[in-house]
Amino acid sequence: MTNADSHVTWREMLQRTQAEIGDRVVAQWLCEHASGCDAGEFKGIVNEFVSDRSAQHLQSMLSRYSAGEPLQYVMGRWAFRRLDLLVDSRVLIPRPETELLVEHVTRFALQKMRDVGRSVTIADLGTGSGAIGLSLLAELPFESAEIWMTDSSEDALHVARANAAGIGRSAVGARFGHGSWYSALPEELRGSLDVIVSNPPYIAQGDPMVGESVLKWEPHSALFAGSDGLTDVRTIISDAAQWLVPGGFLALEMGHTQASAVSELFSSARFTNVSVHKDLAGKNRFVTGVSPR
Ligand SMILES: C[S@@+](CC[C@H](N)C(=O)[O-])C[C@H]1O[C@@H](n2cnc3c(N)ncnc32)[C@H](O)[C@@H]1O
Repeated sequence: MTNADSHVTWREMLQRTQAEIGDRVVAQWLCEHASGCDAGEFKGIVNEFVSDRSAQHLQSMLSRYSAGEPLQYVMGRWAFRRLDLLVDSRVLIPRPETELLVEHVTRFALQKMRDVGRSVTIADLGTGSGAIGLSLLAELPFESAEIWMTDSSEDALHVARANAAGIGRSAVGARFGHGSWYSALPEELRGSLDVIVSNPPYIAQGDPMVGESVLKWEPHSALFAGSDGLTDVRTIISDAAQWLVPGGFLALEMGHTQASAVSELFSSARFTNVSVHKDLAGKNRFVTGVSPR
């Protein structure tokens, strides 16, 4: 339908694309992406002819999208807070609910900087695309934070590093570590982190509620964590106090049914001010707490 054709304008191509996939917004995004323009620029080229190269790119994206691949992987990018992140099948697609987790951590980090009058050290465990850690670097004052982004997946770290390059000078405080949870951090950091934040895998193996597209396309190592989904959450909480400064902040994303189990784990590890926070849909989504003093 959208074969390379030097006499088709972008306006016509957009109409054809919309007719083919039946979704105006997605058609618009794909055409903008194939043209190399942002939304504003695209308006200015709608009467220009589509180049063969752009038509081929669009056709290839349409084939992948029609085969069920998530739009984010097809376009190879996705917006997260202020960032335009590279995403592909090596990493979880960053979710809007995680944007709120960044907000909680930003607030705590800013307060901590005011209280202690120095820059802060943060670990984003299981960084994936780097969505959390890189957003913090982009949003906290310049050079005010050193952020350790770790993952057990080398593939994910390649994506996170590419995204760090994309944020330019804000990435000055970016550090990367490969390994399982705390083993990815240098030993000297033990007892000195101001914040640990993580969106770990938290889905129970075999959970029937997981969407077909998620199961087929997203990395299972980013999703599943044992029979109750809490294997990784337990590991992160049980060792957190050893890595945080006394009075440090632990912020974890979790499944919306896990609030009481995760809060109990925080309390058993002697965390105080344990609070459950909701996501944009009003579902319990994060637990935060302060490490023993
Ligand atoms: C739910 S994804 C979150 C990715 C990213 N932080 C986000 O919010 O979009 C979980 C991440 O944890 C990583 N992971 C899984 N097991 C791990 C482990 N044992 N140690 C470190 N990272 C792990 C996965 O590779 C994945 O990148």
